[in-house]
Amino acid sequence: MKLADRIKEVKPSATLAVTAKAKQMKQEGVDVISFGAGEPDFDTPDYIKEAAKTAIDKGKTKYTQDIGTIELRKAICADIQKYNNVSYKPEEVIVSNGAKQSLYNIFQVLCQKGDEVIILSPFWVSYVEMVRMSEAKPVIVNLNEKDGFSLDIKALKKAVNKRTKAIIVNSPSNPTGRIFSSDELKQIAKISLKNNLIVISDEIYKRLIYGGKKHVSMASLGEDIKKQTIIVDGVSKTYSMTGWRIGYLASNNPDIVAAAKNMQSHATSNPCSISQEAAEKALSVEDKSFGIMAQEFEKRRDYMVSAINKIDSLHCVKPDGAFYVFCNISETGLDSLAFAKRLLEDERVAVIPGEAFGWKDYIRLSFATGMKDIEKGLDRMKNFVRFIRVESH
Ligand SMILES: Cc1ncc(COP(=O)(O)O)c(C=O)c1O
Repeated sequence: MKLADRIKEVKPSATLAVTAKAKQMKQEGVDVISFGAGEPDFDTPDYIKEAAKTAIDKGKTKYTQDIGTIELRKAICADIQKYNNVSYKPEEVIVSNGAKQSLYNIFQVLCQKGDEVIILSPFWVSYVEMVRMSEAKPVIVNLNEKDGFSLDIKALKKAVNKRTKAIIVNSPSNPTGRIFSSDELKQIAKISLKNNLIVISDEIYKRLIYGGKKHVSMASLGEDIKKQTIIVDGVSKTYSMTGWRIGYLASNNPDIVAAAKNMQSHATSNPCSISQEAAEKALSVEDKSFGIMAQEFEKRRDYMVSAINKIDSLHCVKPDGAFYVFCNISETGLDSLAFAKRLLEDERVAVIPGEAFGWKDYIRLSFATGMKDIEKGLDRMKNFVRFIRVESH
């Protein structure tokens, strides 16, 4: 049986592969510490769960509008206004099964063979594969490593050509946690306006920000760039709702919205009606649970960064947002796949190889795991690196 050419190039998610292996080892009774998590270790807050229970009791268990309920889309618009300082109408929002489906819809409606999409690197692993699934070509543009992964404007300008359709901007970033400054965003906006590029602005970590830093949305920079920007966001990370599968896109380009609506209506229809009720509650109520989680993340981040930088041969920059530390391992002499494999086998610690994000000299550690495990896991990593250093001499 011959599968479609389109799927042959698509690689399985390396991040999911490592977490799956670590989970399997845990199930077999092995004491594994996992730094692989791409989701908060906190439970979904009770008031959100209650909203879902009420939705079931009230019979909100049927199809909704394919693009999501009007109530949820209104709550999303209010949230964007509050945290991004931009206004959208509910008809400019499409709710999907997680931000992943929003992104997938976007590439499918925008791109085809012959198109190119610029992906700033380090990048979230799924962008490349999603672009490939649309048959467009992912064009990787490295950020400035020396500068903690700031924008390399020269490299970006060089990558743009007539085939360039879009650029993906992910701030705060997975895997680096870096937030693009207003100045960097303005430079990207200028190039996008000049070359008529669509900016896909993935802002899923926009509220997970530490040390008083500020998130700026690309769409807030002016009416002209707003027209070319598609915001992607969701409730997965902010409200510990990864399993509920609610994400969205917002765009004031009616053609993009109509095409994505059309596609989703045939592919999956509406996302889960009960999850939509829960997401509406999450976005509409100010609750202390978020603040508690964010504070805890900040504490863990500080500990993790300082502990890593005390280990010979490892170093990392303090992330401003999200819940990941991108750690340089080049001095160990191992590439990221070998490092991750041996660390899991020898010391029972799971990390994600940087190769999944375009960088072989790095590993990604998530601090969305309890403090005790962070301490234990980093102690084990220290032993591992010490052993590697002895071994290589
Ligand atoms: C940068 C980024 N964008 C989008 C997503 C997708 O989130 P979800 O589909 O759970 O809404 C993730 C999840 O890991 C992510 O890290």
